[in-house]
Amino acid sequence: MPEAIAIAQARDAVAAKPAGEVSGLTYQAGGRFLIDSINLRIPGDGITVLMGPNGAGKSLLLRLMHGLLEATAGTVRWHGRGLDDDVRRQQAMVFQRPVLLRRSVAANIRFVLKLRGRSSDQQVEQILDEVGLGGRAAQPARLLSGGEQQRLTLARALVTEPKVLFLDEPTASLDPTSTAAIETIVRRASERGTKIIFVTHDLGQAHRLADDVVFLNGGRVAEHSPAATFFDAPASQAAADYLAGRLVLR
Ligand SMILES: Nc1ncnc2c1ncn2[C@@H]1O[C@H](COP(=O)(O)OP(=O)(O)OP(=O)(O)O)[C@@H](O)[C@H]1O
Ligand SMILES: [Mg+2]
Repeated sequence: MPEAIAIAQARDAVAAKPAGEVSGLTYQAGGRFLIDSINLRIPGDGITVLMGPNGAGKSLLLRLMHGLLEATAGTVRWHGRGLDDDVRRQQAMVFQRPVLLRRSVAANIRFVLKLRGRSSDQQVEQILDEVGLGGRAAQPARLLSGGEQQRLTLARALVTEPKVLFLDEPTASLDPTSTAAIETIVRRASERGTKIIFVTHDLGQAHRLADDVVFLNGGRVAEHSPAATFFDAPASQAAADYLAGRLVLR
């Protein structure tokens, strides 16, 4: 076989290998199936955007995929392994509202490095520079603006170089400038090899970021498509209605 073809085939095999495999994932509470037998193959590369109406189960699915919640049934595997402590340590999650220690900006970064037996002032400085908070290291984190606090939570998530980063509407309460800054940081992390799973309601943001889109409705996956397909010709009625600004009824 010519070498070029062998290389291309090897590359395709790697690309086809999913980062995450979700099988029969179910979460039941109060007699309702809030997550209902979800199967997903999350591509190894790029940014997977998770969309769907309020209450569709996006946040629940994210928590289940990161192991913050225990499923009623089904399995989640990342890079071929179940969700054990090692796998979870190689992941990070950012929420809509920044959750920070009431300490300095630098102390918030040092804290997660120490948990992993690492601590380097140089690393702290470098990651703060990357998110545009260089020179703010000694300030109390709570004095940062909302957008700056969210950049700090991202810095804290990324300093450990996670294999997977989950973000649950991280820019929902930020202005366009702060949103753009967060998107740049996320895109850069993706280019460096961190798998990104990003929940958003913002269609423009989904357009800007998504490589593939998972559309959830009523605890089920209505559709999982490459971004271009999803936006140009959604396969599901639920997604078509959502994109057209029509009410999505279960
Ligand atoms: N621990 C729980 N016990 C019972 N019901 C829950 C629990 N957590 C979430 N729910 C319900 O599950 C459904 C899905 O919730 P989830 O937070 O995942 O929605 P979402 O898609 O993230 O919505 P939003 O866009 O508003 O953030 C909702 O109806 C919610 O009330
Ligand atoms: Mg949510």
